[in-house]
Amino acid sequence: QTPSALLCPHRLPSRGSLRLFGLLFDIDGVLVRGRMPIPAARKAFEKLVDSQGQFVVPLVFVTNAGNCLRQTKADQLSHILGVPVNQVIMSHSPLRMFKKFHDKCVLVSGQGPVLEIAKNLGFKNVVSIDMLRESYPLLDMVDHNRRPKLLPIRWETNLQLIVDVLLTNGNLSSVHQIQKMPHLPLLACNMDLMWMAEAHSPRFGHGTFLVCLENIYKKITGKDLKYEALMGKPSELTYHFAEYLIRSQAMQRQWKLPITSLYAIGDNLMTDIYGANLYNRYLEERVARKNPKAIAKMAAVTGSTTAVPQEEEEIDNLRESKLALPAATSCKSVLVCTGVYNPKAGVPSDANHCIKETVFHGHRDFRFDPALVEPGNIVQDVADAVDLIFEQEKFVPK
Ligand SMILES: *[C@@H]1O[C@H](CO)[C@@H](O)[C@H](O)[C@H]1NC(C)=O
Ligand SMILES: [Mg+2]
Repeated sequence: QTPSALLCPHRLPSRGSLRLFGLLFDIDGVLVRGRMPIPAARKAFEKLVDSQGQFVVPLVFVTNAGNCLRQTKADQLSHILGVPVNQVIMSHSPLRMFKKFHDKCVLVSGQGPVLEIAKNLGFKNVVSIDMLRESYPLLDMVDHNRRPKLLPIRWETNLQLIVDVLLTNGNLSSVHQIQKMPHLPLLACNMDLMWMAEAHSPRFGHGTFLVCLENIYKKITGKDLKYEALMGKPSELTYHFAEYLIRSQAMQRQWKLPITSLYAIGDNLMTDIYGANLYNRYLEERVARKNPKAIAKMAAVTGSTTAVPQEEEEIDNLRESKLALPAATSCKSVLVCTGVYNPKAGVPSDANHCIKETVFHGHRDFRFDPALVEPGNIVQDVADAVDLIFEQEKFVPK
């Protein structure tokens, strides 16, 4: 049997190689800006959808946004692109894999409908910061005037109560104690230091919240805060999850050949490009060693350089879930100029100066590495990115 006979014929690239590929799309700055669609996005998706409304290649949308339900984001995107979208990965989506915590009592801190988000991810026993605050009003002394009609974003309460939970080992009726390490497991989604909103200059992102939390904990205890896992781009965990979803799509279509090439299209050097390159490095090492032990590299699932005691168990969990065995062998990055990256900017934008070694805007547990912020290709917009990828893959959609 020739390889071509293994493929579903009407999905076959009409000429060229039989390498199959999948696409990872960033959303903000690539497909939309604020609520406005980027014109090139519709143009790109006209090429990506066949006459039956199906995507011609497996693809996922990968965003570090986290303050809404996955379905809400998918619905917004469907509306904007004019095609039905359901493959969205939010910064919190990989939490679905951490099954060992799903039955534990979990404190959730974040914006948006956090309880509903957590329940959708599989958590059955969830407590929000608001619920804690109401149960222990004396703990929230940072708040002098809590009767707002519209809830503003107040980090002090979340920082205070998270530190309380860590230092009391989850029993808020007791006093702070120096905890035996490790402290309660901490999972963080989205480490973007800044993000672009309507203001001229970047705004604090969730990464800035983490900087505060890490430093408060270190100052009080003298010890480093440790993450059980860090997810959202550029963490490898998020790319493993994306690869897995692309692999599942190919399986649903009954493609017999693996999706070996991935392309990640994004506008942010520190998240999209760094993340794609980091994952590509992992895939290349894996291919080079052809050694299942390379899975130990999955310790980097956390994206963390700090060892966590449950590491082995976690890797087992991931192996069980078949996530740890990617079929892909490469992940190439494509940078677009419709978002935070601006090649013509006179004043260095956040994305530009964060790549200087002296100012590293990546997370504490990620190292600066100039090779990781080097995009595979730079194009004007997402339509050009799709053209370029089709050309590189010699793919001609019907
Ligand atoms: C929590 O701490 C309080 C005060 O030290 C103690 O009386 C109580 O038994 C503790 N609760 C649990 C569940 O350990
Ligand atoms: Mg973006």
